[in-house]
Amino acid sequence: MMDIDLAVIGGTGVYRLSGIEWLETREMETQYGSPSGPVRIARLGARHIAFLARHGEAHALPPHKVNYRANLKALQDLGAGKILAVNTVGGITGRFGPRVLAVPDQIIDYTWGRISTLCEEPGSEVLHVDFTEPYTASLRTALLKACSAASVAAVDGGCYAATQGPRLESKAEIARLKRDGCDLVGMTGMPEAGLARELGIDYASLCVVANWAAGCDPENAEITLQEVLANVDSVSGCLLPIIDNLLNC
Ligand code: HPA
Repeated sequence: MMDIDLAVIGGTGVYRLSGIEWLETREMETQYGSPSGPVRIARLGARHIAFLARHGEAHALPPHKVNYRANLKALQDLGAGKILAVNTVGGITGRFGPRVLAVPDQIIDYTWGRISTLCEEPGSEVLHVDFTEPYTASLRTALLKACSAASVAAVDGGCYAATQGPRLESKAEIARLKRDGCDLVGMTGMPEAGLARELGIDYASLCVVANWAAGCDPENAEITLQEVLANVDSVSGCLLPIIDNLLNC
């Protein structure tokens, strides 16, 4: 089997990587069940990447229904030791306006009722992994370098709030997240990051800010899916050059 140098998990609005030619498509099955969809494999230069759309290629899975364990295990079973998670988010604090890219360095989990650990099944080993730094430092550094090598501006750092969804938040909920120190809000950062740590996979997130979070844009009272998708679409062309550079960082 070929070695996968990097796996990419695409978020809302990132269901394929434009400009890439897939070598192979794998329908995977894992001990935790089926991933969100097929894993696509491509060669970039001398390296191989795997790609999985987190919500499925037709976006049929809401954040609380994603089988995060199966997604990560499928990528690990293919030999991926590094995962770049692409997360579509709302921006809460000043530096994180629409169309900004960010590489968060902290996370707070506000989700509930999701299977968030490998220790779920009776008899499985009890794990207490260190999560002081929830994202892998070396992969974050490489990702930031890859962004600059691709001449793409990306904010270094920020705290990601993982909310349950699928609805967006109220103004008061976002105000609370802000008081908690969160800069970005999305619905899929957890349990994905924690599971990656339990599986021993290097993991970093590239957040694409799609909108100001609820109440953060005084001129816009309502967040629309159209706005979210248009903003993600307008920056998604940066992804392939960043990934290409990341393979060489
Ligand atoms: N909140 C939560 N998740 C999101 C948002 C938001 O405002 N925008 C994109 N994903």
